[in-house]
Amino acid sequence: MLFKKKTDFKVDSRLSHIAFIMDGNGRWAKKRGLPRKVGHKFGAEAFENTVKNCHKLGIKTVTVYAFSTENWSRPKDEIDAIIGLMEKYIEEAKKYEDIKIVFLGDKSVLPITLQNSIIELENRTSHYDNTLNIAFNYGGRAEIVNACNELIKEGKSSVTEEDINNHLYTKASPDPDLIVRTANEFRLSNFLLWQCAYAEFYISTALWPDFDMKELQKAIKSFYERKRRFGGIIDK
Ligand code: FPP
Repeated sequence: MLFKKKTDFKVDSRLSHIAFIMDGNGRWAKKRGLPRKVGHKFGAEAFENTVKNCHKLGIKTVTVYAFSTENWSRPKDEIDAIIGLMEKYIEEAKKYEDIKIVFLGDKSVLPITLQNSIIELENRTSHYDNTLNIAFNYGGRAEIVNACNELIKEGKSSVTEEDINNHLYTKASPDPDLIVRTANEFRLSNFLLWQCAYAEFYISTALWPDFDMKELQKAIKSFYERKRRFGGIIDK
């Protein structure tokens, strides 16, 4: 990480991919006596700001966990609110001309209008270098099962790690270097199970709607204090 002045804070190639488990929208709303969906609305703002902040700091790939395969068990009005926020974000993202947007997960059960706008956005942005992966109707186990089924369909009788990597929803991204989870929760919740093999973890006590540039920089500083060994040893 290059620290010259506070304003030039930039990451280097050791940190190319950060993934966020955006937790705590409901608690943020509850603390204020507001409906949970208001928490998600402010969570969506924190999401947009965080993507922009990561971009400013030079992080090439950002992944967010926006809706899990388990989140369908929530009340319908909450699900509708999250889907509505995603539709609004996609509309807003039409203005962006610098980021490739990729949706991770099974699109086939989403409302057809949402499926179409996701596909249109993915196609239109596919040539940009920086990437935003949005995990939506995503589950890590389902992703691995899906990869295995695709390999079976291709006629494989045995597979390599590379084969699996190439059939994950994240096939175009490097593994995450850092996973940030907010709201002081220490769980992976079925997120990027395969890809997290050597990721560093940072747990923030901030609730997601309060996650800002200062919190992001704290997470990054913590990452740079780690000694990543990838199973090897550092001092021989
Ligand atoms: C977890 O908080 C958050 C989610 C399940 C949804 C994440 C969604 C957003 C950040 C906003 C959506 C953004 C877009 C663009 C769709 P929680 O509700 O589980 O919080 P709690 O644990 O405090 O109840």
